[in-house]
Amino acid sequence: MANKMKATPAKGKLGILLPGMGAVATTTIAGVHAINKGLASPIGSLTQMGKIRVGKRNKKSNKVLMKDLVPIHNLKNVVFGGWDLFKDNVYEAAVHAEVLEPALLNKLKAPLSKIKPMKAVFDKKYVKRLEGSHVKKAKTKMDYAQAVMRDIRKWKKDNKVDRVVMVWCGSTEIYIKESAVHKTVASLEAGMRKNHKDIAPSMIYAYAAVKMGIPYANGAPNLSCDVPAMVELAKQTGAPIAGKDFKTGQTLMKTILAPGFKARALGIEGWFSTNILGNRDGAVLDDPDNFKTKEVSKLGVLEQILEPKENKELYGDMYHKVRINYYPPRGDAKEGWDNIDIRGWLNYPMQIKVDFLCRDSILAAPLVLDLALFLDLAKRSGMSGIQEWLSFYLKSPQAGKGLQPQHDIFKQLQKLENTLRHIAGEDLINHLGLDYYQK
Ligand SMILES: NC(=O)c1ccc[n+]([C@@H]2O[C@H](COP(=O)([O-])OP(=O)(O)OC[C@H]3O[C@@H](n4cnc5c(N)ncnc54)[C@H](O)[C@@H]3O)[C@@H](O)[C@H]2O)c1
Repeated sequence: MANKMKATPAKGKLGILLPGMGAVATTTIAGVHAINKGLASPIGSLTQMGKIRVGKRNKKSNKVLMKDLVPIHNLKNVVFGGWDLFKDNVYEAAVHAEVLEPALLNKLKAPLSKIKPMKAVFDKKYVKRLEGSHVKKAKTKMDYAQAVMRDIRKWKKDNKVDRVVMVWCGSTEIYIKESAVHKTVASLEAGMRKNHKDIAPSMIYAYAAVKMGIPYANGAPNLSCDVPAMVELAKQTGAPIAGKDFKTGQTLMKTILAPGFKARALGIEGWFSTNILGNRDGAVLDDPDNFKTKEVSKLGVLEQILEPKENKELYGDMYHKVRINYYPPRGDAKEGWDNIDIRGWLNYPMQIKVDFLCRDSILAAPLVLDLALFLDLAKRSGMSGIQEWLSFYLKSPQAGKGLQPQHDIFKQLQKLENTLRHIAGEDLINHLGLDYYQK
């Protein structure tokens, strides 16, 4: 089926706005500057290095770079901005985050020092372990949203930017359950005027972006754009949205391993995940209310992949536990342990131990970049609302009403690749392959 929604060209400058300019945001920004200077390579980013097959397998050299198949915005023409409650510029914040080596940061000091965060919409009630003075003052949550919209317009003009996307890289807020105020655009807007407690700062930024038709992704597990009101607004304004929570360390491993066990009909009795990390994110998550938001996001993954109700004998009694421990000496260099108790032929028990010595922000940075560039592509392709094909990047992927989210990373990749083929007007690939053998 030929596709009629070809993407418009990626002209001019693309602005990537990041609420929350901490470890992940500064590692992304510094990384893009380093890559553009030829100092480093964009490992982990599909928009920069990912290849995709187009056409049949009996043709040689039909693997092309994704960025050659569809018009992904060129990295050289990207400008970064954002908000934070600390007024450190990006160079200072990156030094503080201690993710990238000083030798690399010093080479980028001039351009990074020029990027200064705008004043944040912040309320300590939602992130209890943080306190900062670089914050806006307004009466209602709607006034705050309008202030963010004014910031965006001004920033766009000052930086001579043609299009903007927003990716939330701010702290994880306290756990808030979806409620009546999140149901419709009208109830959300009324709630913002009345300072409803279930509207957190992250939702105010999301509202501002989506109201302006700006693509929005959420890298934290806060509700943010994952409520019916925001989906309705996104459809009205033509904004593509994707949430929530970057899929990086332990959950990335989980969504790689679990589909494999299920594919081989191996049983799982228990899966215990724990980790230590010592960055600011770890300090925020040390508060039980903030951890609860993360815990809910992390726990849903196995349930959806293994479907214990449909596979009672294999996964019906599975015990799944997730812990995060704040341990300052480790900084951003997280260590995640998984103990997996599996069952094989005749119910014989086996164990698998995973010890992932990872780097949180190094894993997250390419995801920020890809989400931003793919959301911009979606917008230029006339796609709006939930972008399920970007589930690939997210721990708690947002799905349409009545749909099960897809957590299996291999299915997520197929969906992403087929979406790119669809945008490019190429045939979709379903991996049946019978036509090679049965004429
Ligand atoms: N690094 C990963 O692997 C990973 C994976 C999944 C999700 N995340 C999430 O990404 C987010 C960023 O992680 P990080 O390691 O960069 O944390 P960080 O603490 O280094 O940075 C977050 C920044 O957000 C700022 N902030 C908080 N509330 C804000 C607000 N209302 N407005 C503007 N700024 C605000 C903080 O001041 C801080 O500078 C966290 O929510 C984290 O849980 C990270």
